[in-house]
Amino acid sequence: MLFKQQALLRQKLFVLGSLAIGSLLYLVARVGSLDRLQPLCPIDGRFGPRGQDEIPLRALQFKRGLLHEFRKGNATKEQIRLHNLVQQLPKAIIIGVRKGGTRALLEMLNLHPAVVKASQEIHFFDNDENYAKGTEWYRKKMPFSYPHQITIEKSPAYFITEEVPERIYKMNSSIKLLIIVREPTTRAISDYTQVLEGKERKNKTYYKFEKLAIDPNTCEVNTKYKAVRTSIYTKHLERWLKYFPIEQFHIVDGDRLITEPLPELQLVEKFLNLPPRISQYNLYFNATRGFYCLRFNIVFNKCLAGSKGRIHPEVDTSVITKLRKFFHPFNQKFYQITGRTFNWP
Ligand code: A3P
Repeated sequence: MLFKQQALLRQKLFVLGSLAIGSLLYLVARVGSLDRLQPLCPIDGRFGPRGQDEIPLRALQFKRGLLHEFRKGNATKEQIRLHNLVQQLPKAIIIGVRKGGTRALLEMLNLHPAVVKASQEIHFFDNDENYAKGTEWYRKKMPFSYPHQITIEKSPAYFITEEVPERIYKMNSSIKLLIIVREPTTRAISDYTQVLEGKERKNKTYYKFEKLAIDPNTCEVNTKYKAVRTSIYTKHLERWLKYFPIEQFHIVDGDRLITEPLPELQLVEKFLNLPPRISQYNLYFNATRGFYCLRFNIVFNKCLAGSKGRIHPEVDTSVITKLRKFFHPFNQKFYQITGRTFNWP
């Protein structure tokens, strides 16, 4: 009798346990699917009262859901027609600077419900072969979006490539241009570190940074070294200014984007005439990575790939001093032109 009661109790406990696990699994699945199918509720909920410049809920609804699927190429023609999705030319481009934090900036702006990013670097304007394919080819490379959303792409090579300003101007003379800069010497070392890693991956040897950055014959800064030239921001910007007025550029402080991203992003929202939607909730510091990571909603968050935030090699202090002295007058000119001053040494 006792044995029978115990067996019955065990059976009841089993049924209850299964029910509890089942409910839990259902809840997890529901929350998981929220990321793909539901509005950006946790973020949207904190938006506060809706103003006239609000993004319609429909856009939020599909921002992380269907649009995501569509961008992966899973959209049927019917779905595109049904949701009135379009592939739009970018309204803003992150034109550089390489290693300035261009990926972080693009990914962080993509937190905004009205922004849709082109995931890959398209290299349309700097690559002659791509450019020859025409603007329609470029547009078709863009992600699907709602007509009221803006598309942003980033290709850091644009900033330093001679032909690009004119080509972009011909496509859209009122386009908004974003440039993210870092202290020039640090940026040059970061640039070197990326190339070094590539060489090491192929089991190749490479010169030390000092050897590349300083001309051994003159002991002066080697201005032929690309990593050095790219950091002379003012020289490149001056070429762009032949086509676009300074008001069409916004300079992002890449060093501050690392330590304190939100105020930098808020300045970009303003520049792009977007309602402020990115908040501290969307950005959390990940101590293991040593960087801010992105929180889209309660279940979806991500950090940038490991290739962002490499450890730089030690560089001789005398070389650093020499480089900083070299960049100094160019930096002053850059501050003067852009109206944005940095505490670069
Ligand atoms: P380092 O690798 O030198 O640290 P880009 O995307 O233009 O190649 O820039 C890469 C740089 O972005 C990295 O340079 C890193 O410092 C910076 N960065 C800025 N915010 C970051 C973030 N949240 N996560 C990772 N890297 C970030």
